[in-house]
Amino acid sequence: MSTSRVSPTSSNTLIKTPKPRIILDCDPGHDDAVAILFAAQHCEVLAITAVSGNVPLKLTQHNARLVTQLLELDLPVHAGASRPITAEALHAEFIHGESGLGGPVLPDLHYPLTSEDAVAHIIKTVREEEDVWLVPVGPLTNIALAFRTAPDIIQKIKGISLMGGGTFGNVTPMAEFNIYADPEAADIVFSSGANIIMCGLDLTHQYMVDTQTIAAIRDIGNIAATFTADLMQFFCDMYEEKFGIHAGPLHDPCAVMAITHPELFVLEPRHVTVELTGTHTRGMTVIDERRTIDAQPSNLTVAQSIDRDKAIDLLIETIKLY
Ligand code: RIB
Ligand code: CA
Repeated sequence: MSTSRVSPTSSNTLIKTPKPRIILDCDPGHDDAVAILFAAQHCEVLAITAVSGNVPLKLTQHNARLVTQLLELDLPVHAGASRPITAEALHAEFIHGESGLGGPVLPDLHYPLTSEDAVAHIIKTVREEEDVWLVPVGPLTNIALAFRTAPDIIQKIKGISLMGGGTFGNVTPMAEFNIYADPEAADIVFSSGANIIMCGLDLTHQYMVDTQTIAAIRDIGNIAATFTADLMQFFCDMYEEKFGIHAGPLHDPCAVMAITHPELFVLEPRHVTVELTGTHTRGMTVIDERRTIDAQPSNLTVAQSIDRDKAIDLLIETIKLY
């Protein structure tokens, strides 16, 4: 797999823009699967690490391997944390199905698990490699445990581009799933001082897949397209049934696109903290939107908007590459 993109310059000479080097930490999960598909073409994926989230770890690591196998990728998959740091394990079968990848007919799995210690692998990779982005699109347990075990990697990483949080929730009125599932882990990551891009629900709900998009994906006609279309049809059907939303927000690919195609986003600095104790607000990302001089200094970057149509076209063109 080539590890660079070519982009034209003003003098019309082509310069090679190196692909971002990432570790994709995920809990497949429908949108996680699309994040894997997208990252494999636009990033140098150093590893995929699985975490307990949408479904238990046994299934998220299984599903990460299954997607890797089905897309005929050659990427190491590591299993990580099987439960949050202190919270009780929380899952989302009601959206993703019992398997975590409801919808498509899934092949038998024969793709190997590289290790059952994703946290150690994250630490080792960051220490040995340069310019590594951590891209967590599930609960932040693996990332938090890596930071707690090896604080030296916080300044070594190029940054974190995460899917999570927002000004509203999807588990409670104020808490989004990835943060609510392990608020203590999120607090460790958000307060770490790392360079963080946050793609919250305010952003990902701009990146909606509808029946027209699903049809365009299905028309591509390759295995990746059929798999993605089947996943998205299931995901959209569940969003309609459970939330009354007639489309499915493609949450997780946004965190990858924010570093591969930043030109599609408006990113703004903000101060964000994670609420741990509120009766009604535990797991809330408290985003300081004040414009007055008493606003807290920003500690991360929030993706405020995405060019939805260009990002949909980009996904379709990416699926054609398989
Ligand atoms: O709230 C959406 C997030 O929770 C996405 O990452 C989805 O895959 C689930 O993990
Ligand atoms: Ca996810």
